[in-house]
Amino acid sequence: MVVVMTPDATDEDVQRVVDKVTAVGGEAFVSKGLTRTIIGLVGDIDSFHGLNLRTLPGVGDVQRISDPFKLVSRQHHPERSTVWVGAPGQQVPIGPDTFTFIAGPCAVESAQQTLEAVEMARAAGAVMMRGGAYKPRTSPYAFQGLGVKGLEILASVREATGMPVVTEVVDARDVAVVAEHADMLQIGTRNMANFGLLQAVGQAGKPVLLKRGMTATIEEWLMAAEYIAQRGNLDVVLCERGIRTFEPATRNTLDISAVPIVQSKSHLPVIVDPSHAAGVKDLVVPLSRAAIAVGADGVIVDVHPHPEEALCDGPQALLGADLRSLAQAVRQLPPTVGRVDA
Ligand code: E4P
Ligand code: PEP
Repeated sequence: MVVVMTPDATDEDVQRVVDKVTAVGGEAFVSKGLTRTIIGLVGDIDSFHGLNLRTLPGVGDVQRISDPFKLVSRQHHPERSTVWVGAPGQQVPIGPDTFTFIAGPCAVESAQQTLEAVEMARAAGAVMMRGGAYKPRTSPYAFQGLGVKGLEILASVREATGMPVVTEVVDARDVAVVAEHADMLQIGTRNMANFGLLQAVGQAGKPVLLKRGMTATIEEWLMAAEYIAQRGNLDVVLCERGIRTFEPATRNTLDISAVPIVQSKSHLPVIVDPSHAAGVKDLVVPLSRAAIAVGADGVIVDVHPHPEEALCDGPQALLGADLRSLAQAVRQLPPTVGRVDA
């Protein structure tokens, strides 16, 4: 932390800051410039926060140098992490050496629709499946998901295909039942800042896929990950899924630059959801190619055997030629950026 004194700060003002910092066990290094004095603080940042240094006479600004997140920060953990998802023998890695292709229906609608969608995903090269049993809908009148029945369908499709499953949990009261059926718990964009839910999944004993809130900054997103990590769970994968901007051509704007930025700040893996970002199927393949090129650790994509009948997000679901193009991109491009298939 650095304290920047105002040009008219007196020696007493400087000494007051030094005394306060040393009183809480910190060290203060004073550097006098021609017009300004700056004081570098070394020690426990949380104890410095309690000093309210900004309110002292002669203090112009207080700037933080280290990240406010700790457990998920690369400053404290320089090596990028790999998160393993699935039961022993079926585990899939998500991390810096591989490219992980996850696909499946947006929502679990029936056993047959889910199996068909996941078989399509597997044929396209997906190694993990997705599917929502609890759907966070804008309208309370829209399809909300099959709940526990949907979780049972996901578990039976995993049984049939051997693919680990990621599914969303929207309520802290459902964390235990979702963790019982799924291999990875998803926190959706709408719940990224639901701190009670984050703490609950942090204690569930399963890896977590944490989507970026559609109005969240990167720092807020990493602080949300810190909530999960703080409860003892460092198996967190981040997912960039678009942010809300003024541009109406897509449902959300995929913030592709977030991928390398997050990778420079955090050791956690980061994947991209082009389906929920774009909201339309024609953009899913180009955005997936962009995700691979920018260094994402994987993609998560919606597929549906009959998008016109989908109960949620049909316009963004892939099938047929689009899914074959995605399969080709996911097969051919990752090796060109030094990745092997997960
Ligand atoms: C999808 O998985 C979400 O539930 C969906 O994007 C919600 O959007 P909507 O309820 O506005 O259709
Ligand atoms: C989803 O993946 O099913 C979903 C609801 O995504 P998001 O939270 O990104 O909208």
